[in-house]
Amino acid sequence: MDQSAIGLIGLAVMGENLALNMEHHGFSVSVYNRTAERTRQLAEGRGRGKKLHPTYDMAEFVKSLAPPRRIFLMVQAGAPVDAVLAQLKPLLAPGDIVMDGGNSFYKDTNRRSKDLEAAGFHYFGVGVSGGEAGALNGPCIMPGGTREAYPLVEPILTTIAAQVVDGPCCAYMGPGSAGHYVKMVHNGCEYAVMQLIAEAYDILRGGLGMSAAQLADVFGRWNEGELSSYLIEITQKVLSYVDPDTRQPLVDLILDQAGQKGTGKWTSQDAPDLGIPIPNIDAALWGRNISALKAERVKAADFLTGPAASARLDASFVEVVRDALYTGMIISYAQAMALLRTASHDYGYDLNLSEIARIWKGGCIIRAKLLDPIQAAFRGSPDLVNLLLDAELGGLVNRRQSSLRQVVQQAVGLGIPTPAFNASVAYFDSYRRARLPVNLIQAQRDFFGAHTYQRIDRSGTFHTEWE
Ligand code: 6PG
Repeated sequence: MDQSAIGLIGLAVMGENLALNMEHHGFSVSVYNRTAERTRQLAEGRGRGKKLHPTYDMAEFVKSLAPPRRIFLMVQAGAPVDAVLAQLKPLLAPGDIVMDGGNSFYKDTNRRSKDLEAAGFHYFGVGVSGGEAGALNGPCIMPGGTREAYPLVEPILTTIAAQVVDGPCCAYMGPGSAGHYVKMVHNGCEYAVMQLIAEAYDILRGGLGMSAAQLADVFGRWNEGELSSYLIEITQKVLSYVDPDTRQPLVDLILDQAGQKGTGKWTSQDAPDLGIPIPNIDAALWGRNISALKAERVKAADFLTGPAASARLDASFVEVVRDALYTGMIISYAQAMALLRTASHDYGYDLNLSEIARIWKGGCIIRAKLLDPIQAAFRGSPDLVNLLLDAELGGLVNRRQSSLRQVVQQAVGLGIPTPAFNASVAYFDSYRRARLPVNLIQAQRDFFGAHTYQRIDRSGTFHTEWE
């Protein structure tokens, strides 16, 4: 039997779909899974009659691949990746290439790439976004790792990726963990945008008393304009879905406790190390965390009260929420891109932000029309420190800021929690201020700890005996 062009380990939903995607594009694929049953199911089911080569032990799998071997891991992030690598390593030859396509923590990817590169292998941490359908029909792929080996995997990755007008949604991100870092921040942005959408839904539901079906119409309309994006599109679909058993909108029957797998949290944890504020992503994270305290919230709801008046908002407020949502999204991307910019410098990734915006335009969860002006902003000024300083996007936020303020004011008045809208407006107001009140914080620090301060009227470092 001919040796396969690529091998894929891990046949859960994402892995299986990626293998079928590769095969569909003409690449012969060897597949292996820890439990043989899964491999057999694929070979005899969706893989029947295709150029898929099922293998049942790791040595057989490795032998079935054409050199230099290209191996794509789609196993659960964390210990399972290390376990597979430990099994693989003794079977590999120098020059072989291992790609980890899971949502691995970027520091793990740094450790693994050092280890594998030291042993003479090439290693890539590959961010893959797009869920099940993306994996099968074309995901967004963010590979980072051994630069010189990239041409050996590029034809496969770019061919199976989603395609947009200006090319495949796959590009080399940078060395080491660059790909997984970009994917982590993508997910942070995903959290922020999802939180903003949920808040918009809550305001329209609570403030205007709109039903799920009415809201579905609103999101459907929004998806036809500048807000057009995958997340708005699926929101419309979710809101219009009727539970066949109860004939009620399914969304109304879903328990209000959000899950998470870690990537959004990692983004929020890493940003402070780089000194970059990402309050929209932080807000999305605590929005999920407080949702998880369901039992406490149910108790608190009996005791803690909100504002007495529940004035109904005017129907025209729908458009205000739409504008605020778009503005909040721009501010979320501004924070995510600012984080990537600093990470690029501090971690030596040398990221191309315009190219990242370009590949995010297709296949991934945060694909959106908004990525066009974002791509253009960084193409025009690759060193742009913050998207809010771009003439088009910053100008738009300037003009639309009143929508954001109105949404926050109304939400506060009605007692509707809007952590991500609040964060958006606070970030904007902080970023646009030449002078912030931290002169007082500096004075307090100097008061209790002699931490010293600087002055605006003279140079030097000062300390005062305040009492
Ligand atoms: C993607 C998604 C994908 C996954 C998230 C969900 O880009 O395809 O981000 O990676 O659905 O990890 O994350 P949470 O479970 O943390 O919401």
